[in-house]
Amino acid sequence: MFEIKELTLDHTIHPMAFDTSPRVGWIAECSHSNAIQTKYHIQISVTEEFEDLVWDSGVVDSEQSANIETKGLNLIPSSRYFVRAKIWNNCQEITPWSAPIAFLSGTNGNWHGSFITAETVDLSNDSSGYYLRKQFEISEDLEIESAVIHMSGCGVYKAFINGDEIGDDELKPGFTSYNKNMLYQSYDLTNALSSDNVIAFHVAPGWYKGRLGFYGERNLYGDKTAIICELVIQYTNGEQDRVISDASWLSHSSPLLFAEIYDGEIYDGRKELEGWNTIHGDIKDWHAVEELTHAVETLAPQTSCTVRRHEIFQPKAIFTTPQGDIVIDFGQNLSGLVEFNINGLAGERVVIEHFESLDAKGNVYLDNLRSALQKVEYILGNDGQHTYCPGFSFQGFRYIRVTEYPGSIEAENFKVHALYSDIGETGTFKSSNELLNKLHSNITWGMRSNFVDIPTDCPQRDERLGWTGDAQVFAKTASYLSNTRGFFAKWLKDLSADQTEEGGVPHVIPDVLTGRSDHDPILSIGTHSSAAWGDAAIIIPWTLYMMYGDNAILSHQYESMKAYLDFMHTHSEELIYNYKLQFGDWVALDAEEGSYFGATPTELTGTAFFAYSTHLFAKIAHILGLEQEAKEYSELYENIKQAYHSAFIKPDGSLSVETQTAHIISLHFDLVPEQSKRLISYKLTQLLKDNAGALNTGFVGTPYFCYSLSDNGYTEQAYDLLLREEFPSWLDQVKQGATTIWEHWDGIKPDGTMWSADMNSFNHYAYGSVGEWIYSRVLGINPIESSPGFKCVHIKPLMNKKLSYVKGTFRSVYGAINVEWRVVGERKFELMVQVPFNTRAFIEFDNNTNITVHSDNNSLLNNNSLEVGSGRYTFTVEYVDEHVAVM
Ligand code: BGC
Repeated sequence: MFEIKELTLDHTIHPMAFDTSPRVGWIAECSHSNAIQTKYHIQISVTEEFEDLVWDSGVVDSEQSANIETKGLNLIPSSRYFVRAKIWNNCQEITPWSAPIAFLSGTNGNWHGSFITAETVDLSNDSSGYYLRKQFEISEDLEIESAVIHMSGCGVYKAFINGDEIGDDELKPGFTSYNKNMLYQSYDLTNALSSDNVIAFHVAPGWYKGRLGFYGERNLYGDKTAIICELVIQYTNGEQDRVISDASWLSHSSPLLFAEIYDGEIYDGRKELEGWNTIHGDIKDWHAVEELTHAVETLAPQTSCTVRRHEIFQPKAIFTTPQGDIVIDFGQNLSGLVEFNINGLAGERVVIEHFESLDAKGNVYLDNLRSALQKVEYILGNDGQHTYCPGFSFQGFRYIRVTEYPGSIEAENFKVHALYSDIGETGTFKSSNELLNKLHSNITWGMRSNFVDIPTDCPQRDERLGWTGDAQVFAKTASYLSNTRGFFAKWLKDLSADQTEEGGVPHVIPDVLTGRSDHDPILSIGTHSSAAWGDAAIIIPWTLYMMYGDNAILSHQYESMKAYLDFMHTHSEELIYNYKLQFGDWVALDAEEGSYFGATPTELTGTAFFAYSTHLFAKIAHILGLEQEAKEYSELYENIKQAYHSAFIKPDGSLSVETQTAHIISLHFDLVPEQSKRLISYKLTQLLKDNAGALNTGFVGTPYFCYSLSDNGYTEQAYDLLLREEFPSWLDQVKQGATTIWEHWDGIKPDGTMWSADMNSFNHYAYGSVGEWIYSRVLGINPIESSPGFKCVHIKPLMNKKLSYVKGTFRSVYGAINVEWRVVGERKFELMVQVPFNTRAFIEFDNNTNITVHSDNNSLLNNNSLEVGSGRYTFTVEYVDEHVAVM
């Protein structure tokens, strides 16, 4: 077998539209071992039959199967394209042509229509939905060759053609720094048009006009909802028609009386307008719309990664709380939409409230939602059966309270649609430890819940903002679990756009805090450039480069990265970075009671990140061929390191700051003198021991805790930490019934009381950042700097008897890398590794020399390591020394 299984454009299997030529990649499978691609051939056509080629790579001698540029492809706006590829291997085989993948071209910046609004008077405090529609005809003498629609909105919109919803994407156009970047969505309507047509929109406030941020403000980007649309119809005779949004459209208020991201929806079925989005709708009460002078220059095509409905959850239990509330438990904390059926009389109502947790007594706990109502209310328009599912808000929850519902509440009438960006799944993990497996699931759901168009801190309270620090610490874990390439690239574009003039990076992206925080007790100190938060600007592009082997992200973000580094440099004092508000080791357990700020001094965390980011940036400059800058920033890195030594390393080689986090980041960022490493890592184990084997780290130290142990000879302690079941630990939360990751280690304290409700999310992915250690050390799957994107993978699992078996996959851009190991004897492990087609693996065993390794195919071992091509390999690893055997 030799075939292309999956073709991608700009790393997605669901491309939408491009204004610039996309890059092509594929995953191929081949039944031979040691198989490498030798040639490829890519074709792009305007027909699915590939009769009219518009781009042809010819047969190219190349191993490249990811990030292939289609240079010279000249895209004609608003057209349909199809791409296919075939490849050759070193076993003299050729694949058939792959299944084609379709994409659209964008508007190339040309918009003939304008933004139009139904809100012709001041409705800035109004949270209701509006309908907009346009009727148009197509002459029966004309045959449609293609019809492509581009559209966007101020607010959140749904669009319809002749009554059918266009696309299955939710919360369009997504959340961006709207005044600088706005995305439009494009769809192929070639088969959706007839002679009489209606194109219609339903728009509500969303992030654009609705209440956003924890200061309760609204209209952050504008005070009117609006839409823009451009339908381009190409006829076979060469003629073209455009249906554009302009003053000829009509509008009407919709039955959606209220819709807000945090608060939910009120839908009054009595106000429904039958057939409103079809030619049968009665338009006599409809009003004229108003054209807005809203800029179209900021509109860019959404290439991929829209928000969609994914898994469906059915009720796990329906019960009455001690306080008498009827509650449905869906068994999983998530971001989602509850769809319900109801049979009742006109005017009767359904009211549901969404929440995350029950309190210690088993009652509904709403306090940690702060001001977010998370409430959906539906009023029946007429007698009979109805179904409703919200679509202009989303909720973060596991439970709902059913406050009103006509008739009896039956499980079959309720279901939840999980809602998140189209990131797929690239990582799977299973082990002999069920609690660890559940932790993996919780990390995954923490990601899904918080990847609703932007990487958020939490999905439930009146926040849901793109906190840079949370995204930074979790980015690598997320990139093992899912395809984050398009998701983060979109957000990083906003990060660049929202940087301060000096290059400072706002704490949240899109930046909705700057200029609004003057009275905030904490944020009035500063709204940008906290270490570990702002460093998202550098660490995330670097992570994407390593995981996808794609240096386009480095060149796109280069100026942004450089600006942030220069900002830190300018605002450091003698290379110690501690600019204004530093969150430091946020919500660490060594914080003073009730405080969010961990005990590690912020000049240490600030300088550590300044050094780390500078080091990455020097490497990035080198990768991009900017040798002068690479040299300059390498020198700067060495100087910061020196400053760090002078400030924090004592003459005896130990650290002057006695916190776990100080030790962890000093080790992990390689900021301690070589000769002090042993002492400092030993000291870390002592700090852990002194704290009864428990961590007390926050956002900064936690992600690297296990690394700083295992990479310095303390693998046993790293496993103990990961597998610890007592409070505080990852598995303690699991044992307490968590289905996602909590914001605080002590979100629910051992005595059952909760952390103060003002800051107590049960769905915060930051501490889920231990996920990357599970992939990179337990499974041992690692990218290599000299061969990024897993063209060559470094496999080095830390096999340990605390787990009797482990099995996992990371699906790289080349295909699935599988690793499985199990204990097979007193001192023996069996390891299976599967390496995808067109890649190699550098497999390393325990550095300890006291092992013997047998491989099933007599592969040559060299110093406990070997390099292999694609294929499946098994090894038996035996520890000679009993002491080592338990490691
Ligand atoms: C968020 C955090 C965030 C922090 C920064 C909180 O409100 O929920 O996750 O990083 O503020 O201080």
